[in-house]
Order: sequence, then C-alpha cells, then structure tokens
Amino acid sequence: MHPMDLNARYPAIADLRTRARRRIPHFVWEYLDSGTGTEATLKRNRSTLDAVRFAPSILHGEVAADLGTTLFGQDHPLPFGIAPVGMSGLIWPDAERILARAAARAGVPYTLSTVATQTPETVGPLTGGQGWFQLYPPRDPEIRRDMLARARDAGFTALVLTVDVPVASRRERQVRSGLTNPPRLTPRLLAQVAMRPAWAVGTAMHGMPRMRTLDPYAADTAARDPTAHVGYLLRTAPDWEYLRWLRDHWEGTLIVKGVLRAADVPGLESAGVDAIWVSNHAGRQFDAAPASIEALPAIRAATDLPLIFDSGIEGGLDMLRAIALGADFVMLGRAFHYALGALGREGPAHLINILRRDLAANLGQLGVARPVDLRGQVLARETRAQ
Ligand SMILES: Cc1cc2nc3c(=O)[nH]c(=O)nc-3n(C[C@H](O)[C@H](O)[C@H](O)COP(=O)(O)O)c2cc1C
Repeated sequence: MHPMDLNARYPAIADLRTRARRRIPHFVWEYLDSGTGTEATLKRNRSTLDAVRFAPSILHGEVAADLGTTLFGQDHPLPFGIAPVGMSGLIWPDAERILARAAARAGVPYTLSTVATQTPETVGPLTGGQGWFQLYPPRDPEIRRDMLARARDAGFTALVLTVDVPVASRRERQVRSGLTNPPRLTPRLLAQVAMRPAWAVGTAMHGMPRMRTLDPYAADTAARDPTAHVGYLLRTAPDWEYLRWLRDHWEGTLIVKGVLRAADVPGLESAGVDAIWVSNHAGRQFDAAPASIEALPAIRAATDLPLIFDSGIEGGLDMLRAIALGADFVMLGRAFHYALGALGREGPAHLINILRRDLAANLGQLGVARPVDLRGQVLARETRAQ
C-alpha cells in the first residue's frame, strides 16, 4: 500500500495494535500483549508517561526537526531502535528477518534475542552493521563462550545482558490462553490458529517457530530434562561475577538491560559496562516495579554513561518525554510486533514513519530542533497511584 494510504488508515500505533489483534492467534496475542499479575506495572508505564508534560513554546518561528543522534561513536538518523523480543517469529512469520532488514534500511539498531526464532548467523548480515545481540545468560561456560563467538562472528556490535529475568514470570493472561512452555499445539490452540489464515499460511511456509540459536545445545539440555523448555534450562540468574566475566570476554559494546535502581549504577560502572538500559520489561516480569520513566531521572543523575530506555513507548511524544528526562536512546518492543501483525512486511517501515512524524510534530510544538535540547524542560511530573 502507498505510504499516504497507510498513514490515512493507520496513523498511530493504536491502529496497528487493533488490526494485529485480529490477525494473530489469541494465544500468541496474549504472549505479545500481556503484562504480569494484575498488569499494574504495564498500566503504570502508560499513566506515568502521560504525566510528563512540557510547556509549548510560542512565536519561535520555523524549526526544522533534527532527529540525528550519536551513540557509541556511531551516527544514527533516528533516536530509537528495536528491542529484543523472544519468539518474535511466532508472533509474525519471519519477523526477525523482516525487522532486521527494515531496521538496516532506516539506519536503526535491531536487537536479536537469544530466544528468537532465528540465529545470529542468519540475522547478523541483514542488520547493516547495527545489530545488537541480547543474551539470556547461559549457565554452561562452554555454551556462553560459543554464543559470544557466534554473535561476534555474525557481526553484532553490542551485547545486551538482560538482568530482569532471574526467574520465569507467571504472566497469568498467557497461561489462561492455553499457551504452554514449550508451546504444544492442542486442539484449542489449533482452533485459534484456524481463525487467523494469514498467520497460519505464513507459519506453514516458514516452519514451526523454535529457538534456533539454541539448536546446537539442545542435546545437552534434553539429557537434563526432556520435558522442559530449552531456553529456561540453558539460562541462569546472572550475578556480578557473571557480569565481570562477560566484560572480560566481550570486546564490543556491553549493555545491561533491566536496570531500575540508581543504587546499582556504581556496580555497573565499576564492572565496565558501556551503557545502561532502563527498563521494566514492559511490565512483564514484576508487578510492583516502578514505571521505567519514574526510575529514569535518578539513574540519569547517578551516571554519565549512555542510557537506553524502554517500556511503554507509544509514539514520538513518549520518546521526547524519555529523552527530556535523561535517555540517550529509546527502544520499542511490542509496537514493532503490532506493526508486523497489522501489515506484515510493510509494517516496520510504516511504524518508523509514524514515529518520525510524531517526533517532528511535537518538536515543532515545543520550538526545539533536537530532542536532547528538551533536557530540563519538563514542566510537571504528576504521579498518580495506579
Ligand atoms: C513478547 C515479548 C518478548 C520479549 N522477549 C524479550 C527477550 O527475549 N529478551 C529481552 O531482553 N527482553 C524481551 N522483551 C522485553 C523487550 O525487550 C522490551 O524491554 C519491552 O518490550 C519494551 O517495552 P514495549 O514493548 O512497551 O516497547 C520482550 C517483550 C515482549 C513484549
């Protein structure tokens, strides 16, 4: 579809979400869209972002938005990228390759999850040199070394250690939908698939999604417990020692994802990380966590390291809120998958377009060319209890 038509029909992420819901089987939708517990943290991400306000400027004349930014010495045309999403290819057929290519075309970073359905070897060459690899920490040092070597050889420049999944989260909505771990295609799930023909045909063409990066290690783990999920068998809850080991074994950029406390900053700095990723995993892990945007200012005050931000971004204005409160770069997880579910391979480029326009429109209201010039300009941060 022509970009103008797409814009007329799906001007916001909310439109992509509505359409995606009608095209993705229910159990997959619940996996993508749910938080944990009563979803208080998921909702808090939204309400706390809404509470960040600016005073619009007047009589500032024409201001051309300048969205370029530099991160890790590399210039980026836009201040955002794609967050890691496990089993991305279950959400939409071939998701990882579509996203990596769309990201490379737009010059934005794409993060491949350890538990994606495609391997670093397949995806790395598609990322245009802007691939980041997200690590769920393998317990076995041999597997750990092998994964780092694979990520490096496939051209990933940054390693992202996720630290907010020390245990599996319960995600009750997911459980209610009939999704098991590992997924088993019961008659109930098959009935849900039958109602979503585009997804079903695409999935039949690309093969049953599985965590392909872990294939070489599957024999090891199957011996341990043949019924359990290879992803969970492999990983451990990392500790500070683990982080130091990673720093010694990864020469590229090292990012720690899932940080919410300023008190953790000195430890991260002395472990030699290159950036901190402030995130509550979109409210999917712990339902009493602060909203990411609430946690951000204190972490900004505690460090000069680059800060990456995610959890709940629904448009350009949200990105400006995060950047104004200290983020250097913003990532989106679910929105890119709503875009895929709604529009297939056309989705990611359209979403990037929405975000670019929304950034420019809101900067225009504020009379500011560069998002980073909004630092210190937040008018109010009224926090409502959720
Ligand atoms: C379906 C789904 C799967 C995810 N899988 C991973 C993962 O494998 N590794 C990881 O570090 N984060 C994972 N995340 C968290 C995202 O990287 C990111 O922190 C979060 O989605 C950002 O919030 P947003 O979805 O509101 O943009 C996942 C999120 C979703 C929605």
